[in-house]
Amino acid sequence: MKKKIVSVLTVAMLSMSMLAGCSSAGNNAKDAVNTTENEAVADVAKETAKQAADAGNGSLIDKKVGVCIYQFSDNFMTLFRNELLSYFVAQGFSADNITIVDAANDQETQTKQIEEFIANGVDVLIINPVNSSSADAITDLAVGANIPLVYINREPDADEEQRWEDNDWNVCYVGCDARQSGTYQGEIIVDLGLDTVDLNGDRKVQYIMIEGDPENIDAQYRTDFSIKALEDAGIKVDCLEDEVGNWDQATAQQIVANALESHPETEVVFCNNDAMALGALKSIQAAGRTVGSDIYLVGVDALSEALEDVIAGTMTGTVFNDHFSQAHSAADAAINYLTGGKNDRYIGCDYIKVTADNAQEILDAVK
Ligand code: GAL
Repeated sequence: MKKKIVSVLTVAMLSMSMLAGCSSAGNNAKDAVNTTENEAVADVAKETAKQAADAGNGSLIDKKVGVCIYQFSDNFMTLFRNELLSYFVAQGFSADNITIVDAANDQETQTKQIEEFIANGVDVLIINPVNSSSADAITDLAVGANIPLVYINREPDADEEQRWEDNDWNVCYVGCDARQSGTYQGEIIVDLGLDTVDLNGDRKVQYIMIEGDPENIDAQYRTDFSIKALEDAGIKVDCLEDEVGNWDQATAQQIVANALESHPETEVVFCNNDAMALGALKSIQAAGRTVGSDIYLVGVDALSEALEDVIAGTMTGTVFNDHFSQAHSAADAAINYLTGGKNDRYIGCDYIKVTADNAQEILDAVK
């Protein structure tokens, strides 16, 4: 799979350069994904694990990893955690030693889960914080117990990251720069041309914005940078509505239904992620509108369903949020700590712009 993604990335980079200028605590892994899935993962990985052990990673089989996810029902984080588990096992860990827990979007629950992991003597922690603003308290818990920590997906602020560096703590962050994803969303609309998108001919783009969790830097950057890309291209914009959909399909569906009723002049719907774009699409269709002819719709993540919509023309575009690369980098960072190595405090990854031109290729790679 990694090979496949690397080749997709290469092709995507090439095509991008050609287009330059367009620019409950204690649950174990068996609770995280179902048992059948776990067994399949373990079977597939057995041979790889043996090779890893032969290569000197044998000690990893006994290492205990505690993984905290902000919310299991989040589609993107589900892809991420499943890949994380399967990659850890492929590197020589025992699936029974990878414990993945759901904070159900509650920081207090997550803090208890972290305390429990520490009490149970995990060797490394991987944390997708519920609130990035709680990172200092989380770091203090891990550092106090001398347990290395890899944050994923929700980036702590710059002061917090500076603290890791100043104190030479074994703490790092793995994620992508959400400014890039926002810019790509905007560019997908810019590339259509104002004449196409400006349906009412007022030389402006009327849009509605559906945001993820407002505390989350991904949501803030995608909201700002998607619009900045239009403005940078000299396109005037008119924000009709900007609402919080909390990354959630049903919430976004409701918001977009109401927004389209109040603002039939909407030309573009920007969603901070695909789950919300899929909800938006339902309301767009229910309102009798047609993506690609009288409205445009963009998301982020490249969920399979969204890619199918991009291929069918029922979504204008999305942006691939590479859960393979992020899961592998997070596990590799954890392995580095476990084997006495260090990590950069920020480990990044590139997004890929997805339109009808490359959606099939991305779909083949993620399936
Ligand atoms: C984003 C992703 C969203 C959601 C969010 C959770 O990177 O695009 O779909 O999963 O992370 O923090």
